Amino acid sequence: MRFHIMTLFPDIFTSYMGESIMKRAIEKGIVELYTYNIRDFSLNKHKKVDDYPFGGGAGMVMTPQPVYDTYRYIVEKFKIENPQVIYLTPKGRVFEQKIAGELSLAEDVILLCGHYEGIDQRIIDLIVTDEVSIGDYVLTGGELPALIMVDAISRLIPGVLGHEESYEDESFTGDLLEYPHYTRPREFEGLEVPEVLLSGNHKNIAGWRQDESVKLTRQRRLDLYEKYEKQVNASKSNKKRKNK
Ligand code: ADE
Repeated sequence: MRFHIMTLFPDIFTSYMGESIMKRAIEKGIVELYTYNIRDFSLNKHKKVDDYPFGGGAGMVMTPQPVYDTYRYIVEKFKIENPQVIYLTPKGRVFEQKIAGELSLAEDVILLCGHYEGIDQRIIDLIVTDEVSIGDYVLTGGELPALIMVDAISRLIPGVLGHEESYEDESFTGDLLEYPHYTRPREFEGLEVPEVLLSGNHKNIAGWRQDESVKLTRQRRLDLYEKYEKQVNASKSNKKRKNK
């Protein structure tokens, strides 16, 4: 899968993508990451990429020409047929695991990082196919949100994580938060590992983990818990119907 990042600060991506799992995913050729400095595409003699907003107001707005030309360059170079262009903005729909899952199936994803007060609306009208926010707070630019998306999407691509099963149990996959984990030693600062995890009884361990997940979700995220309860009830009534 290829990520194309349109940004004014391409260096931000180098460090994060050069470590750990993301580094390995790139080395294995499963993930490709290309960054494009929007400033390089500016036709202005001073390589300017922003200007005052029409109508007045505080802050600067990114001008459309450099962004549009960066986009054209990517699409032509990689011959992308139906480009999926995501603009990172607090105005977008909120990013969640389901969106990461959908995007992990794409061949090319173009992420557009804004800065200053935002981007000329005509860019959004012309090339953006989806606007995404990573949460209800305002950052100084779209680079951190883009990295978060790249990370969350990449780890769902087969082969990126070491063990295929390591994302099956985790938080959100089944609308529940993940159960607690323990490793050695058996006792630490007076706190013991729950007995059941030492029992070797896989059925009991799975049951304990499920119960812990449900308990934690109900305590912390009633919204997710209610979704989960609905699913459980729906599958129960489905089973009943089949047995009739
Ligand atoms: N740019 C600035 N804040 C943002 C946010 N919360 N999500 C996505 N892009 C942003």
